[in-house]
Amino acid sequence: MDLMRLLTVALILILCGTETLSGDGTLVLDYYKETCPLVEEIVRVNVEIAVAKEPRMAASLLRLHFHDCFVLGCDASVLLDTNGDMISEKQAVPNLNSLRGVEVIDEIKYILEKACPYTISCADIIAIVARDAVVSRGGPGWDVLLGRRDSLEASFSGANQLIPAPNSSLETLISNFKQHGLDVGDLVALSGSHTVGKARCVSFRQRVYDVSAEEHYDPFKRYTTFRRILRSICPKSGRDNELAPLDFTTPARFDNHYYINLLQGNGLLGSDNVLVTEDHEGLIIEQVWAYASNQELFFKAFANSMVKMGNINVLTGNEGEIRRKCRFVNT
Ligand code: HEM
Ligand SMILES: *[C@@H]1O[C@H](CO)[C@@H](O)[C@H](O)[C@H]1NC(C)=O
Repeated sequence: MDLMRLLTVALILILCGTETLSGDGTLVLDYYKETCPLVEEIVRVNVEIAVAKEPRMAASLLRLHFHDCFVLGCDASVLLDTNGDMISEKQAVPNLNSLRGVEVIDEIKYILEKACPYTISCADIIAIVARDAVVSRGGPGWDVLLGRRDSLEASFSGANQLIPAPNSSLETLISNFKQHGLDVGDLVALSGSHTVGKARCVSFRQRVYDVSAEEHYDPFKRYTTFRRILRSICPKSGRDNELAPLDFTTPARFDNHYYINLLQGNGLLGSDNVLVTEDHEGLIIEQVWAYASNQELFFKAFANSMVKMGNINVLTGNEGEIRRKCRFVNT
C-alpha cells in the first residue's frame, strides 16, 4: 500500500515535471534577470529612438502586440514572413497596408542578438515594446511579465477571422474579446488605445457615411462637423489609404480623450462608436464616463487589461522556440 502511494506520488511528480517542461503558461517578471539583465533597458532606448524619428510609431507598435496576441496567442506569429505553405499574417485583411513597426522589432532583435544571443523571444520583445510605446506618448507603465516563446507557425486565416473588424457590432466585439479570455471591461479599456495613431479611410468610411446608427444618439449635436471633415478626407470611393487620427483632439498623446470623443459621438471607427450607441444596458457608458472624467482610472484599467492581453495563449517552457530572426522560424 505504501509502495503504491509512493509510486503514485512519483508519477504525479513526473507528470507535473513534464508539464512544466512543456510549458505551464506562466510568465514571470525577472525571466531574463540572469541571462540578459539589460533587455528592458535596451528595448526602452530603442523604442524612444524609433518614436522620436516618427511619433506615430508608438501607436503602430502598440497595435502590433494586439494583432499578435489575438492570433494564436502572444507568440510573435504576426512577424513571420510568408514561407512555403505558410502565408504570413501580415497579408491578412486587418494587417495588409496597415500593420506597421515590424522593422523596429527587427532592429531591436538584431541588437539583442548581439547583447544576449539566442535568449530573448520575439514575443517578449513585442510585449515590452508595446508598454514602452505607451509610456513614450505619456501613457501608463506596467510590469511586463516575460518568458514567452516564439511560435513555429503563423495563421493567415486566423488573422482574417480573429482580429475584430472596425464595422463590428458591439455584440460581435464583446464575443470576440470573450473568445480571447477578455471581458467587456477589457474591451472598453483596451479600445482606449485609439487615443493614439491613425486609421485609413477604408477603415472608417462606412461609419462616416452610414448615419442610421447615430440617428438616435447625438447628445452634443456635434457629429455633423465631425462627419463633414471626415467625408472631405474620405470620399465615398477612392483615397482608401488617406489617414485620419483616431483621436482628433490630442492625437499625439496617450490620454483619456478617446473617451471624451466617444461621449460626443466623435469616435472615428464604427467599433469605437458602438461602445456608446449600442450599449443598451448603460454599463459601458458608465465606464466610458468614468474614464472620460478620470484619466488615472483609465490608466490603471488599461495597464491591467494589457497584462491580461499579454497572457493570451503564451508558449512557455520548451514550447515553440527562441527565434534568431523574428521573420523566420529557425532552421
Ligand atoms: C475593439 C476592437 C478593435 C478594432 C475593431 C480595431 C480596429 C482598428 C482599425 C481598423 C485601425 C486602423 C487600421 C488602418 O486603417 O490602417 C486601428 C488602429 C489602431 N488600433 Fe485598433 N482596433 C481594436 C482594438 C484595439 C486594441 C485592443 C488595441 C491595442 C491594445 C488597438 C490599437 C490600435 C492602435 C494603436 C491603432 C493605430 C495604429 C497606427 O497608427 O499605426 N486597437 N484599430
Ligand atoms: C463590414 O465590412 C466588410 C468589408 O467592407 C463587409 O463585407 C461587411 O458586410 C461589413 N459588415 C457589416 C456588419 O456591415
